[in-house]
Parts: sequence; C-alpha cells; structure tokens
Amino acid sequence: MSISIIGAGNVGKALGRAFVQRGLQVVYGVPDPDKSLREVDVPEDGSVRVCATPDAVAASELVILAVPHAAVGAIARGIADWQGKVLVDATNPLAPGLDGLTLGTNTCGAEALAQLAAGARVVKAFNTTGAENLADARYPGTLPFMPVCGDDAAARQQVIALASLIGFDAVDMGPLKSARYLEPLAMVWIQLAIVHGHGRNFAFCRAHRPA
Ligand SMILES: NC(=O)c1ccc[n+]([C@@H]2O[C@H](COP(=O)([O-])OP(=O)(O)OC[C@H]3O[C@@H](n4cnc5c(N)ncnc54)[C@H](OP(=O)(O)O)[C@@H]3O)[C@@H](O)[C@H]2O)c1
Repeated sequence: MSISIIGAGNVGKALGRAFVQRGLQVVYGVPDPDKSLREVDVPEDGSVRVCATPDAVAASELVILAVPHAAVGAIARGIADWQGKVLVDATNPLAPGLDGLTLGTNTCGAEALAQLAAGARVVKAFNTTGAENLADARYPGTLPFMPVCGDDAAARQQVIALASLIGFDAVDMGPLKSARYLEPLAMVWIQLAIVHGHGRNFAFCRAHRPA
C-alpha cells in the first residue's frame, strides 16, 4: 500500500519515516523534486519516491497534506477532482510568529480545505503533536494521543488504523467540525513546547481510571 505525502518538511519526513518502517510505500509530492531529493532519505528498495504534487496525488488513495497552511488552498484547488481520495489534513492555520490561529471557533482549516478540495474525503489527523512524535511515537508505559475526525466514517477508520499502526492511541472524534477543537489543541502543544520551554520531547496521552 502506498501513502502520498504532500510536503517533505518536518512533518512529511517524520510520517514518511514511520510509514516506511512499517512496510508502507511513500510518495512525496513537492514543488521542486530535485531539491527535495537532496533532503529526503530515499532507500534503494524503492519504498520512497519524490515527484511533483499532481503525480503524488494520483499515486495513492490516501494523501496527507503536510505543508504550510498558506500553501493549502492552491494545492487543494490545483487538483480538479480528488476522486474520493482520503485527504488527511495535518496542517494548522498558524498566525505568523506562532501568534495564534488564523481560523477558528465557528470554522477551521480542515473545513476550509473540504470546501476547496472537490470530491475529497477530508480527515483531520497528525496535527496535534510535534514532528518528533510523528516519527517515533514510543513513550514508556503509554501511547500518545492522536485524535482523528472527518465526515466520512470509512475514511476516518482508515486514518485511525494508520495512526495506530505507527504507535498512537488513535481516537475517533467524529465529524470534521471537531477539527475546530483539534487545531487549538495543536496550539496547546506548541505553546508548551516552544513558548513555555517544555521542549519537544513530550506528548499528550489519555489516562484511564480502572472501572
Ligand atoms: N513541525 C511540526 O512539529 C508540526 C506538527 C504538526 C503539524 N504541523 C503542521 O504541518 C504543516 C507542515 O509543517 P512542517 O513543520 O513540516 O513545515 P516545513 O518543515 O516548512 O515543510 C513544509 C513542506 O511543504 C512543502 N511545500 C510548500 N509549498 C508546497 C506546495 N505548494 N506543494 C507541495 N509542497 C509544498 C515545502 O517544500 P519546499 O521546502 O520545497 O518549499 C516543505 O517540504 C504545517 O501546517 C504545520 O503547522 C507541524
């Protein structure tokens, strides 16, 4: 099975590494494949390819968007028909200087994406924790929390399975509008990690009391 990842930066490379370790094929879609080929690990076994974004979208049924939010609109509109593909939105609509979110409360980045990406089954995931955790989700005695939401239940389940495969406690958060809460949750992680000096080596998890 192949997963396409649009963007080969911190998040794209982290997820790609985690997927390849589990035996999946990864196809990166980037603006300049020659440049990204110098920055991405491309094993000789053919498990990773780097190509132009439209080719990467065509290559897989599940496509992850891991680009700066400013690039999302052009990418979404650049594909005339997403043909029922599962489009996973890992982005956050960050204001410059990490000074908050540019969308929120009564809409969010994921819902805006769903309006633009005609025919896609949009799922929000992989946006609420740091890239280091996406590359390696192992923590002693617990699994890091990964909330997943989207309006298409089958698409949501596929992404929950994918997040579970790479080591997360993937939790079904229901419809896409739950991303209104998940994008601010990303800001909580960012504030702790970067603004309040906790560093990037932590993850949120769910603690359960025995029944
Ligand atoms: N960093 C984190 O820990 C983290 C965690 C969760 C979510 N996020 C979110 O994930 C997204 C990506 O963050 P990041 O840290 O990975 O950013 P990044 O390191 O800056 O990487 C962004 C990638 O997107 C590519 N890109 C830019 N415009 C593109 C386009 N039009 N088509 C295809 N690819 C394009 C860039 O290519 P070029 O380098 O060639 O321009 C680069 O490979 C952001 O929305 C961020 O808020 C980040």
